[in-house]
Amino acid sequence: MEHETIVIRRGTRSALPIIVAVHSTALGQAIGGCRIARYPYWRDGLTDALRLSAAMSDKAALAGLPNGGGKTVVVLPPGERLDAPARRDVLHDVGDVIAGLDGAYATGPDVGTGPDDMTTIAERTPYAFCRPVAAGGSGDSSGHTAAGVLAALRALCADRFGSADLTARSFAVLGLGRVGAHVLRMLAEHGATLIAADIDESRRAVADGATWVSPQDCLTADVDVLVPSALGGLLTPDSVPALRCAAIAGPANNQLDADETATLLQQRGILWAPDVIVSAGGIIHATAVELHHETSEQATTRIQGIAGTLTEILQTARATGDTPLQAARAKARDRISRR
Ligand code: PHE
Repeated sequence: MEHETIVIRRGTRSALPIIVAVHSTALGQAIGGCRIARYPYWRDGLTDALRLSAAMSDKAALAGLPNGGGKTVVVLPPGERLDAPARRDVLHDVGDVIAGLDGAYATGPDVGTGPDDMTTIAERTPYAFCRPVAAGGSGDSSGHTAAGVLAALRALCADRFGSADLTARSFAVLGLGRVGAHVLRMLAEHGATLIAADIDESRRAVADGATWVSPQDCLTADVDVLVPSALGGLLTPDSVPALRCAAIAGPANNQLDADETATLLQQRGILWAPDVIVSAGGIIHATAVELHHETSEQATTRIQGIAGTLTEILQTARATGDTPLQAARAKARDRISRR
């Protein structure tokens, strides 16, 4: 068993499965967002929580934070929608489970949750990051995550194309949720050539300045960089042969369906930036402001450090012949074992 603690409870109010996986507290309090998502079976949500929480340990370690990794998954049955009272019940159930962990784990926003939800969780436990600034938290983390993605894209382009300038490059942004929409806007401000897609047709409204295509066409677009910004598991033995990009970097968690897919990408000459490095801007900002009482400006400077971390990992991988995944994991494990 790799995880320290796994709590699975049917919410006392909501009757929905609430899963909290604490992967590691070796470096400090485990952190990781609360995901509210649909799964065919609750066990699929458990599988997701186990993988996502392990990735959070690597993410925190590679970001140099004194934190471990965890994750919360609330399993919605297919088709289920939460009205406001039901949502409040679910979030209070989540808060109770987290409260039972006595500070070993703190949550934050993730797919399906936002700052206001953190305020509701905080009615039951103090361990919730990213409440709105007016409520005493560090606020929405998605813009900071996006700033980290931009820093990573510059480092990736410098490594792959010899220049960190994004202006002359083309990007396919797949997924226009909270983070993806910010990334697209920031790339548009740089004057980059953009393709965008989302499974939700209504997100087209935030795709200004980009060519709107289907998710499948976005995935296989002939661009410099693919930017996965939706749910994970997008890069698989089926999808990798169809890719036409030269490099990949984006904020989606768990982009590879399995570790071996990193080797498939390497064999195709596609440079993949590990998602655990690219997506760390949100936790870097939230912990800097809420735990270490830094200003938002100081946190922003720290987020730029993602570029240096990614450059180092890509260079190490090239020198050793390892995949970037192997290089990133080795560095994370090294830090965790040397605590
Ligand atoms: N969704 C964030 C991530 O995957 C989780 C998070 C953000 C946790 C901010 C705490 C604070 O990294």
